[in-house]
Amino acid sequence: MSDVGTSHEDLERFLGDHYLVGAGLKRDKNAVARAGKTAAHWQWDGIYRGLQRSGEIVTVGPDGMTGMRSVVGIEAKNFPIWMNAQILMPGERTQCHRNLRSETRLVCEAPKDAVFVCEYEAYPMERGDVVISPAWTYHDHWNKDKTPAIWIDGYDNGYNPNVNINERFPKDAPYEEVKKPAGYGQRTLGLARPIANEAPFPLPPMRYAWADTHAALMALRENHESDPYDGVMIMLASPVDGGPTLPTIAWQAQLLSKKQKTLAHRHNSTSFYFAFEGSGTVVIDGERLEYNKGDIFAVPAWTWHHHENSSSDDTILFSIDDWPAMKKLGFYMRENAKGF
Ligand SMILES: [Fe+2]
Ligand SMILES: [Fe+2]
Repeated sequence: MSDVGTSHEDLERFLGDHYLVGAGLKRDKNAVARAGKTAAHWQWDGIYRGLQRSGEIVTVGPDGMTGMRSVVGIEAKNFPIWMNAQILMPGERTQCHRNLRSETRLVCEAPKDAVFVCEYEAYPMERGDVVISPAWTYHDHWNKDKTPAIWIDGYDNGYNPNVNINERFPKDAPYEEVKKPAGYGQRTLGLARPIANEAPFPLPPMRYAWADTHAALMALRENHESDPYDGVMIMLASPVDGGPTLPTIAWQAQLLSKKQKTLAHRHNSTSFYFAFEGSGTVVIDGERLEYNKGDIFAVPAWTWHHHENSSSDDTILFSIDDWPAMKKLGFYMRENAKGF
């Protein structure tokens, strides 16, 4: 594998070799979209090294050449929802903005003093945390610490990819002020909450702490509640109505125990996965996709798929899935294989 190199062109080539393209960079002319059910798979090594180099040579923030710094799979935007990866270097802060699509993120690694700011509240970023900024909420990222912060974004595309309604802060102020007390969202959107809490617009931001997600997965496994098609699987519930994370997408976490093999199913929603811990195989319409920790991959709509964890450790997958939108619109369908 070639080294990443030092110029923008080198980085574009490196990313292209890994089927990736970076914000603020050109798509490498040799980078071609792959075909096949398992084509949408991007390995952590390419993502991570590409991000590190982007961190050094692509600037972000109000004075930067791009509002954000991310790498995304070249095939990713063929899907109605997608994930990309982002890095924020020490001392950086992105430009505050809001737009009409939901932005959500899963923290891969971040120092103690990196925060995600949304609607005037600063949310901590611990590995495995999911933080959502629903459509039309002001948000920015702020790394006040000494090492890079890396996370995975999950987007719902606003359900109209041709219209990008994107607004900066009033008077073009670069950042929003942190005005709310620490932990405000967590304290006021739990089971003890204000009486008037009907679905507002915009929906509230929320942080789903990894400690809670992990505890739920462990408790379910301890109680032998494993689904034959999905293993031990949870969704991160909306703080407004207890339903899926957002009206458009659900964030999910899935535990596949060692040697576990699930039964196949298919659904006409799309899933994007991030391999959070461990490794495994997902079989999509007969094609085997082997993934390792840190990889991103998609399971296209209406493809038969099942999971195999042939290792002797647990595998934990995070995913986003657009079944909430499909269900609400009245055309969600899921079919389980009878066994194989
Ligand atoms: Fe954003
Ligand atoms: Fe599935």
